[in-house]
Amino acid sequence: MKLLEDKILTEGKALSTSTLKVDSFINHQVDPVLMNEIGRDFAEHFKDAGITKVLTIESSGIAPSVYTAMHLGVPMIILKKQTSKILNGNVAQTNITSFTKGTSYELTLSLDYLDEKDTVLIIDDFLANGEAATGAVRLAKTAGARIAGIGILIEKSFQKGRQKLIAQGYEVYSLARIARLDEGVIEFVRE
Ligand code: G4P
Repeated sequence: MKLLEDKILTEGKALSTSTLKVDSFINHQVDPVLMNEIGRDFAEHFKDAGITKVLTIESSGIAPSVYTAMHLGVPMIILKKQTSKILNGNVAQTNITSFTKGTSYELTLSLDYLDEKDTVLIIDDFLANGEAATGAVRLAKTAGARIAGIGILIEKSFQKGRQKLIAQGYEVYSLARIARLDEGVIEFVRE
């Protein structure tokens, strides 16, 4: 998606060979006009997939997912990293290990909002090693839902997330695919 690639080139900061900072429009401050266009793009790409719910992981997946859900005309569900005391016992949980951050956390889905009649689109901001997306897939499957695909804003194509998800049989649709990062260097995958 040219709009996102241009934004990454003008406002993104490559901090190292592995990390891209996009705090000014995705991770801390959010650009709603860009998010609306991202939502429109995901909705157009998956319009014939029979999606009934958009599924995302808090926190940075929420903004693009709201717009995607709005353009598809379906609800969105946030997978929670903090278990709320208000959630009743009808939940599915899975453990995620983040290699980027060196941490692990429990991801929670309320089974009140997803079942075997649903087809989900999973959306997230970054795809690195695919651990978060794989966890979202596990939870959707626990609920019995079908997975239409995985929509990613920024894929770090030099890490193994895409291969991991494709090997499980899922379509990965990424709006920006980064081939190489280095201090001050951002190169996209060109096919
Ligand atoms: P994975 O799920 O694909 O394996 O990714 P990983 O665990 O490595 O990523 C963990 C967190 O780090 C995620 O955010 C992800 O969005 C973020 N991340 C990974 N690579 C980058 C990067 O190059 N730049 C930035 N800015 N973030 C990156 P999170 O912990 O879920 O945070 P948030 O959604 O609350 O913002």
